[in-house]
Amino acid sequence: MEKEITCVAPPNIALIKYWGKKDENLIIPLNNSFSITLDSSDLFTKTTVRFCDPKKNEEDKFTLNEKPQKLASHKRIVNLIAKIREKSSLPNKDDPIEIDSMNSFPTAAGLASSSSGIAALTYCLGNLFEVYGTEPLQLDQVEIGKSTKKQEGKNEENKQVADLLRREKLSAISRQGSGSSCRSMFGGFVEWIAGEKNDGSDSRAKQIFPKSVWPELRVLVCVVRSEQKKVSSTLGMRRSVETSEYIDKFSTKVVPKNIKQIKQAIQSQDFETFANVTMKNSNAFHSVCLDTFPPIFYLNQDSKKVIDFVHSWNDIFGTQVGYTFDAGPNPVLIMLNKNLPSFLDAFVQTFQIENLVNQPLQQILKDSQFNK
Ligand code: PMV
Repeated sequence: MEKEITCVAPPNIALIKYWGKKDENLIIPLNNSFSITLDSSDLFTKTTVRFCDPKKNEEDKFTLNEKPQKLASHKRIVNLIAKIREKSSLPNKDDPIEIDSMNSFPTAAGLASSSSGIAALTYCLGNLFEVYGTEPLQLDQVEIGKSTKKQEGKNEENKQVADLLRREKLSAISRQGSGSSCRSMFGGFVEWIAGEKNDGSDSRAKQIFPKSVWPELRVLVCVVRSEQKKVSSTLGMRRSVETSEYIDKFSTKVVPKNIKQIKQAIQSQDFETFANVTMKNSNAFHSVCLDTFPPIFYLNQDSKKVIDFVHSWNDIFGTQVGYTFDAGPNPVLIMLNKNLPSFLDAFVQTFQIENLVNQPLQQILKDSQFNK
């Protein structure tokens, strides 16, 4: 039996967005970004990679959602495999591999499928090719610093620190497959540090807080459209960098300020600031898209109705809910556990019965606690 590795990786949702690259080839971003990683029980990519018998298979193979793919047309994946092979010292590293990947949600519909997809692949390849370490990466690491038994605890803690560091290094490879994927190498709250070096070696993700720092937080991912988005994030970013004047302010002023604010809000569990910063950063990102020429519209009428609904709700009840939108129309809503039932009730009623009769929200995909 040839060696085989399976991994289930969750998507992450950027609360403070990455938009625009300093280096398109290496995927070095203009600015840091900050995200939460979702729980992987419903929304996930499941990937298996295995070595094949070199006598039977001449080439690497890739299957996505049960459909065999032409690997050559997935340049970033080809690139990723090459980078991992380059760093591996396994004697059989040049044997062909087979990749089998499944998304539990629509691919390329603004639901960050590339973040979980590339993270799962990097994770699997890192383990398969034993890159930066020979121990399998731990899927469910325990929170650092919380070990109970002293002696064993120290050992366990060292292992976890090594595991986190290895993930950081792997995240720099993952980043080159899809920028935002590097943040899915960790659970909890994660920052992707843009880095200073021209070769991108310090452009890595880091876990800032584990999930346990704020267990009451809930994330609701909604799908208003499941068709593929019109302007890919790669193209959109390129166009924004070339034509938007506002992008400079966004990346050098707005984002650094928002990251500082959101970290403080998380530490002090200040939901109002947390939600307001998240909403404002999402709006600022979509303003960059509007300031791009020709403009890019990722939000649609459904998205705008959800934005209005959240603000009306918060006007009445105080800031209970925040929204954020990536490069697509699907709202991601954040709230505290205690406010979820009443909000969800009103939300589902409003959008199914009144406002969106002709364009109903197709499905509420996920009410999720985010991953550790
Ligand atoms: O990494 P990409 O190409 O999927 O771009 C992600 C861009 C946003 O989702 C809009 C923002 C982000 O930080 O995830």
